[in-house]
Amino acid sequence: MPVIDRIAEYADELTALRRDFHEHPELGMQEVRTSGIVATLLREWGIETHTGIGKTGVVGVLHGKAQGRSIGLRADMDALPIEERTNLPFASKTPGVMHACGHDSHTTMLLGAARYLAETRDFDGTAIFIFQPAEEGLGGARAMLADGLFDRFPCDEIYGMHNWPNGEPGKVGVKPGEAMAGADFFDIHIRAFGSHAAMPHMSKDPIIIATALVAQLQTVVSRNVAPTEPLVLSVTQIHAGAAYNVIPSECTISGTMRYFDPEVARMVRGRIHDLAAGMASAYGVEIEVENREIFDVLVNDETLSHAMLAVAAEVVGKDNTVVTPDVKTGSEDFADMLRVIPGAYCTVGHAGTVPLHNDGFILDDDILPVGASIYARLIETRTAA
Ligand code: NI
Repeated sequence: MPVIDRIAEYADELTALRRDFHEHPELGMQEVRTSGIVATLLREWGIETHTGIGKTGVVGVLHGKAQGRSIGLRADMDALPIEERTNLPFASKTPGVMHACGHDSHTTMLLGAARYLAETRDFDGTAIFIFQPAEEGLGGARAMLADGLFDRFPCDEIYGMHNWPNGEPGKVGVKPGEAMAGADFFDIHIRAFGSHAAMPHMSKDPIIIATALVAQLQTVVSRNVAPTEPLVLSVTQIHAGAAYNVIPSECTISGTMRYFDPEVARMVRGRIHDLAAGMASAYGVEIEVENREIFDVLVNDETLSHAMLAVAAEVVGKDNTVVTPDVKTGSEDFADMLRVIPGAYCTVGHAGTVPLHNDGFILDDDILPVGASIYARLIETRTAA
């Protein structure tokens, strides 16, 4: 793989940096140490650096040797509330927090590109390095946008990438058009009436109501939407009770919806409300539905998707680039930025095979110079386009 030589020369430093981030993971909006290191390095390399954008977000601005276009590159910095079980020598030192989605590598790859571009400046226009907090459902992209990200740092195009543990090192994929699902998170609070478990007739049992409601929720996808429409409604949490002999007073059901068609999403939100209201009326209890629209549908610009693949091909070879055929039902808050500025988001395959968000996830550090080279070539190519 023709990784950029200058970047290959400091690949070991990138690995050390990535492992340091890995050892010290931080949850969304708490990336104080991580963003501090990012800002320090950017400044060390002579890059104009702005901190505190979207709370812990950092933006670096680097001008090339002549007038040209502005291209934004974005990496996320946050970790997940997972207890790491990899036994790596550089495993998380923070209990209950782990870089299980490899955002440590994304931050490192973007830093790797920034260093190279600051040293070489062999491009026209402006490179905007966007280090985003809180990608994992905590609204980091929206926080940066609310702080005027693209008003203060206008971009003509933006690009992002995600490591992909598919056991195919250097395989780069982009899905033009709709690529990743929009997502809602919901909580359904059932306020019923508890009793002694031996006298259930005295209660309005929220557990019976909750289990019935979960079963009804399964009909939303299977009986309201065409089988050809990609849609997911998953209940992922039920919380109630604390004793063997007590029927609790309350129960909370939580979960997520993943969709591509906003009309379908609106219908699903309505069905959840209607089913909850029907249950409340049938059992004489109070049921409140709280729904939060967390992620937009991620839409890659068709033309820029192919532009990104062409640039990636220079690094990994044409045979290693692929137009991803299927949408992913996972979500990604880079979608919010792509609503404002056209761009594309790719996956970069690596030798790891444990899935993302698993407590045994292991990132392949060989991906670091590859991602950094793709980012760097995007600036050198697209600022002049
Ligand atoms: Ni991720």
